[in-house]
Amino acid sequence: MKVNLRNHTMMYPAPAVVVSAYDEEGNADACTLAFATMCSHHPPAVMIAINSTLKRKTLKSILQTKEFCLAFPSVEHAEETDYLGIESGYNANKLDKINFTHKKGEKVNAPLIEEFKVSLECKVMHIAEVGSHTQITGEIVNVWADESVIKNNKIDFELLDPLAYDDITHSYYRTGEKIDDAFKLGLKFKK
Ligand SMILES: Cc1cc2nc3c(=O)[nH]c(=O)nc-3n(C[C@H](O)[C@H](O)[C@H](O)COP(=O)(O)O)c2cc1C
Repeated sequence: MKVNLRNHTMMYPAPAVVVSAYDEEGNADACTLAFATMCSHHPPAVMIAINSTLKRKTLKSILQTKEFCLAFPSVEHAEETDYLGIESGYNANKLDKINFTHKKGEKVNAPLIEEFKVSLECKVMHIAEVGSHTQITGEIVNVWADESVIKNNKIDFELLDPLAYDDITHSYYRTGEKIDDAFKLGLKFKK
């Protein structure tokens, strides 16, 4: 029997990512987002959604500069990631508070946060207002990964140990181990 839980925003699994941008004075803003996903292969692109009240300082900075970086925090940085999502850059220099360092991206004028092991440099290619949120599509113009998470020349999911987030219970999760190969596992049903 199914239980009807009415309507709620949800996605499984959802990442907890950190987006960053420079404000008009050149200070680095960063905030945590669960609303983030890949959305185009050609060009490679990601979509993020930020509450459009402009109470999010990072949104204001992204809309001004039209560039941002997006990092995939590892479970080991869950505390810092949570802090970036519960404090505003209007009230504190968040990256300084957690002793994180950053430098300007190679292809975009947006802060790359050094402590996060995988980061994307993105240029805004599309903006849409959808309900309560501003959806921003960013073309991925560079991908950076720590050597520590590279295996066979690729980012290794288990080495990265990316932080997952559940919006129903407001909880962080570890995603777990590989179970099989995609695009192969279902082949037996094609026969
Ligand atoms: C786990 C988590 C996920 C979040 N996801 C989003 C999101 O997808 N969109 C959004 O607008 N805010 C999201 N937030 C809230 C912002 O990160 C938060 O309002 C932050 O303080 C904004 O900082 P800023 O003003 O420095 O930009 C999330 C917070 C947490 C802790």
